[in-house]
Amino acid sequence: MVHFTLPFQILVFCCCAVCSAEISCKNEEGEPVDWFIIYKLPRYVNGDIGSGVEYMYLDSSKESWEMSKYMINSSQGAIANTLNQLYMGKEYKFNTSVYALYNDAPPVLKYIQQYGHTKGALLFDRSQGFWLSHSIPHFPSFPERGYLYPSSGKVNGQTALCVTYQYQEFLHIATQLVYLYPRFYNCSVPAAFLADLPQLAQLCAGAKPQLSSNKRMEQLFSAGGEKFVSFVKSENFVDDIYTGWVAQTLGADLLVESWQTQGHDLPSNCSLPKHTMNIKRIQFPRSVLFHSHNDHSKWCVSRLYEDQVTCLGDLNRERGQLWRGGGLICSFNPLIYKAFREVVDWYIGCTGPVTDVLYLVFGVNGVTYWPDK
Ligand SMILES: *[C@@H]1O[C@H](CO)[C@@H](O)[C@H](O)[C@H]1NC(C)=O
Ligand SMILES: *[C@@H]1O[C@H](CO)[C@@H](O)[C@H](O)[C@H]1NC(C)=O
Ligand SMILES: *[C@@H]1O[C@H](CO)[C@@H](O)[C@H](O)[C@H]1NC(C)=O
Ligand SMILES: *[C@@H]1O[C@H](CO)[C@@H](O)[C@H](O)[C@H]1NC(C)=O
Repeated sequence: MVHFTLPFQILVFCCCAVCSAEISCKNEEGEPVDWFIIYKLPRYVNGDIGSGVEYMYLDSSKESWEMSKYMINSSQGAIANTLNQLYMGKEYKFNTSVYALYNDAPPVLKYIQQYGHTKGALLFDRSQGFWLSHSIPHFPSFPERGYLYPSSGKVNGQTALCVTYQYQEFLHIATQLVYLYPRFYNCSVPAAFLADLPQLAQLCAGAKPQLSSNKRMEQLFSAGGEKFVSFVKSENFVDDIYTGWVAQTLGADLLVESWQTQGHDLPSNCSLPKHTMNIKRIQFPRSVLFHSHNDHSKWCVSRLYEDQVTCLGDLNRERGQLWRGGGLICSFNPLIYKAFREVVDWYIGCTGPVTDVLYLVFGVNGVTYWPDK
């Protein structure tokens, strides 16, 4: 039984003051959100040369993708609003919060192969914070430079997932990061956090913490209670993460969108019980159409609606990446699933190319899943 001893107004005032100051993912308007997803469109869309800075935005308040009114390289919009807690809020100068910017291809510095093929940012304090996972090389910029979007990140499609987590979840996230072995190019784990986050401090200091296995799966719950499942592998799990592990563990055939360079790509694979099939073309509503070879994002969806799983992450279905650390963050949210499943235009199935229009119009087994399309 909870007894409210404070006058109601004071209680409300305190709550709101705390909420607005809390570190979290921020939406397009700069308000706190539990999670958001961004799909930056490639420069080559519909056979035309576009700006390369337009993006689609999704969060739990939307019905589906919305074209952002901001450009990804401007200091407005969800990603900039979120990262500006670090840049403008100068959180990096405080010893009350932990942060890490990581990327196998960091801004300015040279590429070092030994780290995991993983990109992201985290910022949190004793209360909560965000974990942003994305596919953009040379991003985000060093804290002193403010929010900058690299021009190299304009050409191809890119995805980003931001989730707001309470402090306790970051203790689990830290364990997952050890498997990823991310290249932390700028970070801070203040002394007061050392006891809780010794491995994160090691990563920040450039050390490589010991692992007890070669891969790990962990459930994470966002501050708003949304379930995500993090799959991470170290370089010692030498296999295609999609086929060799995630599809079999989820028990679902997966359609995978990833950056595949010719001659290094792994073909669609139907030899294990659950299949992994390469997506070749993406089509957003209102005929925004592009080919996978212009898309640097890494995500997958279950082929079947009833499995309803979507994962975003770090690794491409490429031979060289069998030997790299990296992971996927999976969601069972129907809104996220529908948004990603709908944009699959065609993929290479077990017996050849599959044009997904048939499924969209007639559904599977006579069931029409998306009558609005
Ligand atoms: C963002 O990119 C576009 C397209 O390349 C460019 O025209 C614009 O000036 C850029 N804006 C900023 C703020 O860098
Ligand atoms: C990175 O972070 C620290 C603050 O945490 C700062 O002092 C340092 O100069 C930053 N920049 C670079 C380029 O390392
Ligand atoms: C954090 O910084 C403040 C002021 O800069 C300092 O007084 C305090 O001792 C620091 N705390 C820790 C735990 O380092
Ligand atoms: C399919 O994937 C599995 C797991 O990665 C692998 O062992 C097998 O050789 C692949 N099959 C083909 C035909 O590539």
